[in-house]
Amino acid sequence: MRRSGRFLILLVLPAVAACWRASTLPDSSPPAYLKPPGDVDRGARLGRTFCISCHGVYGNGRGSGADGLDPAPRSFVRAVYRLRSTPTGSLPIDNDLARTIVRGVPGTAMPAFRAYLDARDVYDLVAWVKAFSPRFSQELIDDAIRIPPAPPRTAARIARGRALFKELQCGKCHGDDGSGQGWGTDEDFRDETGRLAPPRDLRVGIFKSGSRPRDLYRALVTGLDGTRMAAYEDAVEPGDMYSLVYYVLSFDRGPGPGRWLTEPPRWYEPTTVRVRNPEKK
Ligand code: HEC
Ligand code: HEC
Repeated sequence: MRRSGRFLILLVLPAVAACWRASTLPDSSPPAYLKPPGDVDRGARLGRTFCISCHGVYGNGRGSGADGLDPAPRSFVRAVYRLRSTPTGSLPIDNDLARTIVRGVPGTAMPAFRAYLDARDVYDLVAWVKAFSPRFSQELIDDAIRIPPAPPRTAARIARGRALFKELQCGKCHGDDGSGQGWGTDEDFRDETGRLAPPRDLRVGIFKSGSRPRDLYRALVTGLDGTRMAAYEDAVEPGDMYSLVYYVLSFDRGPGPGRWLTEPPRWYEPTTVRVRNPEKK
């Protein structure tokens, strides 16, 4: 009798602990039915096929094919991610890593895997990528920023954007003409691993974050961590951010070669995706 009582407590304790933990974590992820929990082992098998040639068996970015790649493949161990919808300094949410895997990183060696992987594969890979860094089990991930819908692109907004570009001295790095030829030499623009990450030539129209106004909004608010591209969350009024975005896009000289890659997958924006909710039956 007493024995089985003790056994019951042992069974119940982890469940209580799990509930408590769940109630203390901020809810920065989409509902569970939109985000199948990744299977790390299955992710590792896929990773061995698709990723380790660049990112390495140990996830440190030193795969056999990584030599001479600029920018270098990301180290999953350091876990400093450029493409996030979370504020600067925070880890990315699962959907950020998923988006990178599906769309690739335009203008770099990071391929788009949309043609080879389905959503389950992608989230298994996300689980595998996260498993390389203890940060994911130690740190709370900040909430994703809220991206308001883009207002109409008007001459007045572009003019306001030009004024902000000047005021915030974006041209110091990107050049007043957007050519990327501003201040500094290559030496001044190394990323967190010491590789080159120079200011972007904004005329080419290749954006790692994607080239829709809302993608650039996200990039400007959250910054590209690990590079000198800072987060402008506190520097620009939310109502002004799209003006800056439209001015950035006005440098664009026609369809960039990476343009077709930058359209995000349909399931990325949970609000626009209709997914069967198994809880509703
Ligand atoms: C041909 C080489 C190559 C392959 C194969 C490759 N990657 Fe990458 N990956 C890169 C490079 C290069 C970068 C860095 C891009 C940059 O710094 O802008 C990168 C960056 C990333 C990032 C970080 C993006 C960020 O926010 O900073 C993730 C996550 C990632 N890769 C996951 C994967 C996964 C998962 C696979 C396999 C499905 C994979 N990669 C396959 C080259 C590769
Ligand atoms: C201190 C130098 C510096 C300043 C100032 C700066 N940037 Fe950048 N910016 C960079 C660097 C470096 C990159 C490239 C990062 C990379 O390739 O990973 C970049 C990249 C970008 C990108 C490309 C984002 C993407 O997703 O590919 C945009 C857009 C951009 N900057 C706009 C701006 C705007 C607008 C301002 C002013 C509010 C600004 N930058 C100020 C250094 C700077």
